Amino acid sequence: MKLAGCNEASIGIFAWSTIEPAEDAYDFDWLDTIMNKLAENGVYAMLATPSGARPPWLAEKYPEVLRTNSRREKELYGNRHNHCFSSPIYREKTQKINRLLAERYKNHPALIMWHISNEYSGDCHCSLCQENFRNWLRKKYDNDIKKLNTEWWTGFWSHIYTDWSQIQSPSPLGDSCVHGMVLDWKRFVTTQTIDFFKNEIVPIREVTPNIPVTTNFMCEYGIEDLDYFAFAKEVDVVSWDSYPQWKGDSSDANFATNIAFGHDMYRSMKHGKPFLLMESTPSVVNWYGINRPKRPSVHLLSSLQAIAHGADSVQYFQWRKGRGASEKFHGAVVGHDGSENTRTFRDVVSVGSALSKLDEVVGTAIDAKVGLIFDWENRMALKEMQGLRNNYKDYVEVCTNHYRSFWKCGIAVEVIDETFDFSIYNLLVAPMLYMLKPGVAQRIEEFVEAGGTFVATYWSGIVNENDLCFLGGFPGPLRKTLGIWSEEIDCLYDNMTNNVKTESTNGLGLKTDYTAKIFCDLIHTETAKPLATFDSDFYKGQPALTVNHLGKGKAYYICFNSEQEFLDDFYTAITKKLGLGNKLGVHLPDGVSISTRTGEQGNFHFVMNFTDVEKIVCLEKAYFDMLLGAEVEGCITLSGFGITVLKETIG
Ligand code: GLA
Repeated sequence: MKLAGCNEASIGIFAWSTIEPAEDAYDFDWLDTIMNKLAENGVYAMLATPSGARPPWLAEKYPEVLRTNSRREKELYGNRHNHCFSSPIYREKTQKINRLLAERYKNHPALIMWHISNEYSGDCHCSLCQENFRNWLRKKYDNDIKKLNTEWWTGFWSHIYTDWSQIQSPSPLGDSCVHGMVLDWKRFVTTQTIDFFKNEIVPIREVTPNIPVTTNFMCEYGIEDLDYFAFAKEVDVVSWDSYPQWKGDSSDANFATNIAFGHDMYRSMKHGKPFLLMESTPSVVNWYGINRPKRPSVHLLSSLQAIAHGADSVQYFQWRKGRGASEKFHGAVVGHDGSENTRTFRDVVSVGSALSKLDEVVGTAIDAKVGLIFDWENRMALKEMQGLRNNYKDYVEVCTNHYRSFWKCGIAVEVIDETFDFSIYNLLVAPMLYMLKPGVAQRIEEFVEAGGTFVATYWSGIVNENDLCFLGGFPGPLRKTLGIWSEEIDCLYDNMTNNVKTESTNGLGLKTDYTAKIFCDLIHTETAKPLATFDSDFYKGQPALTVNHLGKGKAYYICFNSEQEFLDDFYTAITKKLGLGNKLGVHLPDGVSISTRTGEQGNFHFVMNFTDVEKIVCLEKAYFDMLLGAEVEGCITLSGFGITVLKETIG
């Protein structure tokens, strides 16, 4: 660990059956030894609570801890991450073991943070969960079943409930397309998972009130059915597990955007507070279809990309490869050879050494003036919705495409949900904002009136928070802000396109023609002004892009799904108007991005080349290259997958 520059380790994540091999019989000796060794060697511990997987005796004696799936089948003992979130016994048992851990290690010098459970996910449909779901619904609908029937629109297929006991969670064997119900179930699952987490941390908070807690989220876009924005409110520090599938070729430049999106989203969850990269692989994973080792330099770049976007750590799964079972071929810092004389270990050393030069970056923030709404419940609702193109409603891809235009210019973005305060941004981008929760349209209107620039797209302002359509014309409560009425929407087959012609007076310096694909929204301008029109089909001449002036601000409406080229040109113009650019003030070659962290000591510009070829970036003035330890100026060359961190002292 010392050779690798590793000063922190997460431990005990799946250790329940080792700590408590039989009910109420504990063995902490091995954990004491590890904790002591870590402390003696200046390594901190993020101590885990073990609820992510349970010992066989527990499931055997208390089968209620096992999950029931949506087909109402009780799962067998096995795997992990599959406990019932309602089970009183599981809750009691997790609290008990967590209290013992907290009591035992509360004053241990190694303890720096709590790692609660592991990658919470999934749902359980057992009778306990059904009852909790019904109670949750009663509360939401003020114990008024008529209200629920209205919001779920149950009369449509003769589903009008007369008693709460008739309600069941969604199932392939029962209801799956009462959209209000499916949405409420997912909300309930989020609440229930968070409640389980809160139950776990009761003893932790009591016994170690000053030790922060985190739980590791997963995937660059999170997992669809658990609202991480809601969960993030409950942890002290956000952390996530990032396993990019770098190919080591030219496709990585495009792909890097997805990972940057993830980092920005996790940072934004705590309003810009640094997050932790809880897991990453030093080499390969073992669960992609093709598990290709990282090419030289990619590991350092990938690790520092997290730091660039706001992480204050780089951590690995796993330290040492196990000999057997599921993850024996998953990358680890130390392989089966037990040697430090490997390419992987040297890669890890390179990260350790780079991090040791970046102490000043820890705790610094990212100044973002662009907010991009990526709303979890909107995403859940879009997924369930039936209509338009059922095989293509890719909200994630559309949000990423919009985000990519900023990434290419190195302009900082916060990825937020509908609940955030918009007033801190200059530009608010909200692709496919299908669902508008109460008050959101009003807050967007106020944002624009106060001078903000808002960008919306087709298929926005369609339903309320329970997936009921707005009456009186789309985009519902956003109609005034956008100054348009959307009458219908054309869904194009994959091989079809339309042409978009811009008005010569578009004021954005756009090209004359762009391609529209997948969706063309057929709108009427009310107070908005068209900046472009569709060029063919029965809606030739109808607006394809509009702007509406409201108060001191502007609201743009993009009526079509576009190629990246349009988004790049459009956002280049908008950000120029708003005076937003990258903090280094340079032009970036393709595949190179910049992220800047700012603190009292100055600006820290991370300049990253996600291509496999050399790129040149010309600087306006001299900077201190923190990795090189030398001053640089003029044009600098980034090698393929190269990164440089430039310090700019302010004042
Ligand atoms: C997740 C888990 C780890 C491990 C890794 C493998 O992130 O938290 O326990 O299984 O995946 O990539």
